[in-house]
Amino acid sequence: MSVITQPTDLLRRQDPQMADVLAGETRRQAGTLQLIAAENFTSPAVLTALGSALANKYAEGYPGARHHGGCEYADLAERTAVERARALFGVEHANVQPHSGSAAVLAAYAALLRPGDTVLAMGLPYGGHLTHGSPANFSGRWFDFVGYGVEAETGLIDYRQVQDLARTHRPKAIVCGSICYPRHPEYSVFREIADEVGAYLIADAAHPIGLVAGGAAPSPVPYADIVCATTHKVLRGPRGGMILCGAEFAERVDRAVFPFTQGGAQMHTIAAKAVAFGEAAGAAFTTYAHRVVANARVLADELEAHGFLLTTGGTDTHLISADPAPLGLDGATARARLADAGIVLDTCALPYGDQRGIRLGTAAVTTQGMGEREMVRIAELFVAALRGGSGEIEVARIREDVSDLTLEFPPYAV
Ligand SMILES: Cc1ncc(COP(=O)(O)O)c(C=O)c1O
Repeated sequence: MSVITQPTDLLRRQDPQMADVLAGETRRQAGTLQLIAAENFTSPAVLTALGSALANKYAEGYPGARHHGGCEYADLAERTAVERARALFGVEHANVQPHSGSAAVLAAYAALLRPGDTVLAMGLPYGGHLTHGSPANFSGRWFDFVGYGVEAETGLIDYRQVQDLARTHRPKAIVCGSICYPRHPEYSVFREIADEVGAYLIADAAHPIGLVAGGAAPSPVPYADIVCATTHKVLRGPRGGMILCGAEFAERVDRAVFPFTQGGAQMHTIAAKAVAFGEAAGAAFTTYAHRVVANARVLADELEAHGFLLTTGGTDTHLISADPAPLGLDGATARARLADAGIVLDTCALPYGDQRGIRLGTAAVTTQGMGEREMVRIAELFVAALRGGSGEIEVARIREDVSDLTLEFPPYAV
């Protein structure tokens, strides 16, 4: 745990208040179950790069064409990250500068669209991200979004509706990607629909990109004009974004990131992305990505056996979306009760009605080394937390069971 504790020890002498905050968060992450589908535990090597001297460096521009001096190591870091991303995803061009997944989507729109253009994306009530047309977000303000949905019965994307809406609205771009869809999008179908109406296809692969890297999910790269992604979910890198595209969009994408939507790149994060891409290229990561999916399938089956209704009837990914209504609870109440028991997850949209469900993922617990046996145990803890009495003693007992489980699988070696 040295990479986590040493800076904290150093910080403790200078700023005990903030050292306490960091120590508390480290304890929280290790002592409760991290089932937020968008989170993971980065490696000590990634954390080392994040805490490196590159955090001090300004490097506006791109390697070989910076607006600042002293960029020789910054250039090396970025070139390495770009080359590793290109090799990992088999793509002609990679931009590793977006500060986040949202920044990557903003830049993709900036590269391909003009304000006022029509864009077809998954509607937010069905699992679209804020950047897919929320009125509270730049996307909904600057573009005219039309939302497609999922079939109420199956929870699967309604491709007939996508096609109908595309024919009616003739969008300039179609976005595929979601915050809670547990199946693989049919990228080839989206491509066909986009081609039919002359639209660009943008894949927002923020969630599945780590599975793609590990060969556990199909790649959108051969189908989409631009692929946007995050680096911090299953991919297990630092918090950040990236964009992948063919050579024909390279210049537009680079200009859309800098100088159009961002300033100086965060070079320590780019170095950490390079480290994560290096890790993801190894055989151990391939095994990891497949284990993430295997664990999600077992956990989904167990939750279903305990009475949860699974959106789409299961999962092909790291992600599970479930309705706890048969247990007599809505998503928000379930999340709160689980949180009291030390089980941390989110609520999410459901394909029918106004009630919310719960969204969880297996990326972090799989990094901790948990396997199918532990998934069965986690499902039992869910039911104990949700069905069992809500009395303080009962909650404390379940919390202790959660703590015992996490103690067996520390996220960082001590
Ligand atoms: C589909 C999708 N797009 C974009 C994002 C935005 O990523 P960030 O939070 O890094 O801005 C997310 C984040 O969860 C996402 O799930």
